[in-house]
Amino acid sequence: MVNKNVGFICAECGNTNQKWLGKCPQCNQWNTYSELSSTPKKVSKGNRPVNSSQFRENKTKPELLNEISIQDTKRYSTNLVELDRVLGGGLVQGSTVLLGGEPGIGKSTLLLQLSMNLASGGFKVLYASGEENSLQVRIRSGRLGSVPANIYFLSNGNVEAVEEAFHSIKPNLLIIDSIQTSETDTHPSGPGSIAQIRDSAHILSNLVSDTPITNSNQGFQKSVCILTAHVTKDGTIAGPKLLEHLVDTVLYFEGDRYRNLRLVKAYKNRFGAINEIGLFKMTERGLKEVESPTNYFLDPREASLPPGSVIVPVKEGSLILLLEVQSLVNEILYQTPKRASEGVELNRVQLMSAVLDKFGNLNLRNYDIFVRISGGVYVDDPGLDLGLIISLASSLKERSIPSDTCFIAEISLSGKLRGVSMLRERIAVLESLNIKRVIIPESQAAEFDFYSGEIIGLKNIREVIEYIF
Ligand code: TYD
Ligand code: MG
Repeated sequence: MVNKNVGFICAECGNTNQKWLGKCPQCNQWNTYSELSSTPKKVSKGNRPVNSSQFRENKTKPELLNEISIQDTKRYSTNLVELDRVLGGGLVQGSTVLLGGEPGIGKSTLLLQLSMNLASGGFKVLYASGEENSLQVRIRSGRLGSVPANIYFLSNGNVEAVEEAFHSIKPNLLIIDSIQTSETDTHPSGPGSIAQIRDSAHILSNLVSDTPITNSNQGFQKSVCILTAHVTKDGTIAGPKLLEHLVDTVLYFEGDRYRNLRLVKAYKNRFGAINEIGLFKMTERGLKEVESPTNYFLDPREASLPPGSVIVPVKEGSLILLLEVQSLVNEILYQTPKRASEGVELNRVQLMSAVLDKFGNLNLRNYDIFVRISGGVYVDDPGLDLGLIISLASSLKERSIPSDTCFIAEISLSGKLRGVSMLRERIAVLESLNIKRVIIPESQAAEFDFYSGEIIGLKNIREVIEYIF
């Protein structure tokens, strides 16, 4: 018999149900339900309704929207240009940020650097870690530079202990590393359970949004809370998905542990644009910002690229990155052609191969196709389409594309070149890199007077193939 006071909650999406379910009807994940006590508790801070917002003071009375002060959106700069851009200009006081990422990717390192930057600016930081002890963190901080005063370390994942320290220190920045090792006494289950993660996140985000910090400097009245969360590539570790609803901003820290590039990406941001990215390199002395992200991914170029390689200016948030699309088109080894991709969705590679086959009059049916984007970046910008198609054709024909020629267009399933967003910005980047020729959709081939190179507006795949080969 299912006890009436007990429900079940999906770790992936937070959907709840009276009975245990093998598969979540909302997010279709398997084995994500776990038991949750839903016994109403006395109104404690941790049991507030799911609504994370910094403007919580007037919860009972409606307010006039135009009379609400927007002063509250004052931001702390992280002193990391790449991170500030992703956040929309810094950390908004009173808000809660979730930083997700695979174990070992560098979350703690980034937050320690952030703490050191804020503390150097005269702010107080409370760094609570349920994962590492003070000595470990002290040793790591030594690798990152000289440790400023004003960083308090608490080697404890207990939320009530954090609350107590918070009230006595009144820090500007509260870091919880990680939310999976946090636990609150208001809940009987152990750390890591869904209920613990949810309640802990509630209490902590309410703590920073509701507590004025009287000892503040530079006019700041509230703190900021940053929670870290471990996720695996397929997002299977319980918690983070559920937390996304509870926080103001969700950042993911991605990258390849075996390469040193790291990307911070905003997936949700109440105070800025989403899909912004920030680029860092992991070095012996912590994370360093990538200074010119635009051409960071290109090797020093020679006059021509090898067959199959094409340079494309790709849009990532407000950034334009020049990336190299590499294709390898080989005669099939086995009966069924093999298709694989890295850095771009396989489905898109299949679509573009089909379009090239039909409208470019190139037979790809008996070929294996492999596609990779340089530098370990994952691209979903549709403006990559034309470059991808030309790279396939270039490999098939074993004809290389001059490295001073670029391609920018989305391709429709009828083989037509479609317009893309931020074309001006993309072309501006080409100008600065001495790329002499760019092929774009005819519909967008307006005057770009700042560009000294040649703009070629074409209608469809066939025209492009004829022009290039
Ligand atoms: P960490 O921040 O502990 O990752 P997370 O908190 O996401 O689990 O990062 C640990 C990795 O970073 C570890 O493999 C060592 C490496 N690292 C450096 O390469 N340079 C450094 O200066 C630091 C502090 C760590
Ligand atoms: Mg860590």
